[in-house]
Amino acid sequence: MFNIFKKKEIKKEQGFNLKKIPKHIAIIMDGNGRWAQKRNLPRIKGHYEGMQTVKKITKYASDLGVKYLTLYAFSTENWSRPKREVSYLMDLPEKMFSSFMPELMANNVKVLVIGDIEELPQNTQQAVNNAIKKTSDNTGLNLIFALNYGSKKEILDAIKNISYDVKQGNITVENIDEQLLESKLYTKNIPAPDLLIRTSGEQRLSNFLLWQLAYSEFIFTNVTWPDYTEKEFLKSLLEYQSRDRRYGGLHEG
Ligand code: FPP
Repeated sequence: MFNIFKKKEIKKEQGFNLKKIPKHIAIIMDGNGRWAQKRNLPRIKGHYEGMQTVKKITKYASDLGVKYLTLYAFSTENWSRPKREVSYLMDLPEKMFSSFMPELMANNVKVLVIGDIEELPQNTQQAVNNAIKKTSDNTGLNLIFALNYGSKKEILDAIKNISYDVKQGNITVENIDEQLLESKLYTKNIPAPDLLIRTSGEQRLSNFLLWQLAYSEFIFTNVTWPDYTEKEFLKSLLEYQSRDRRYGGLHEG
C-alpha cells in the first residue's frame, strides 16, 4: 500500500494510528496567490503549483485509505477575481486531468464534482464530465472537486426544492427533517467530513460546506497550499487523531 519512503515517514511520526484515518477530509486550498507573490511570480504560477499539490495529496490520501477527499477549487465568489486569473483557473481541470488521469485510474480514484457546473465554460465542463465518466467504475478514494461551489446557494436551492414538493402536495411540512434536507444537497450520499483543513493561516469557512461541517474537526495551518507536503498532511492527521470528538455528548472513557 505504501512505498518504503512513505512507510518510514509514517513511522517517524510518533503515535500515528493507521486505524484512525478520517473517512472524509475536506480542504480549503488557500495561499496560492501569496506563495507566488512572495517569489515575485504571477498569481497563476501559484495556482499551477497548487495543482501539483492536489496531485501529491490525492495520491497520499488514497494510499492512506481515505474514502472521500473534497477540495475547494473555485467558489461562487471567485468570479470577482481578474479575468486572466479566472480564465486560468477554469483551464486547470483540463490541464490536470490530461496529465493525471493515468495515475487516478491506477489508484482506483473516482472523480466527483459538487457545485453549479453548468455555469462553467464548455471546455471546463467537458474536462470535468469526462473525468467523472472515465472514473465512474472506480471504487477507491472519492476525489470531490468543489467547483463554482457556494454553500449558501446549495442550502437555498435545497430549501426551494423542498418548498416546491410541499406546494405540490408531495410532502407535508412535518416531513421535513435533516435527512430530507441532506438528500437535496450536492453532497447527498456523501458522509459529512470528519476533518476540515485550511492552509495559509486564514481561519474562516468562506462559504464552504456550512451544513456538512457542523461536527467536523477544524485544522488551520500556516503553510500555503503549494508548500503543503505529504509530511504536512501527515502532521494534520496526527493532530486530528489527538482530538476528542464528542458530538455534543460527553467524553467516552
Ligand atoms: C486559493 O488561493 C486557491 C484558489 C482560489 C484556487 C484553488 C485551485 C487550485 C489549488 C488548483 C487546482 C484546481 C483544480 C480544479 C485542478 P488564493 O489564490 O486565494 O491565495 P491567496 O489568498 O494567497 O491570494
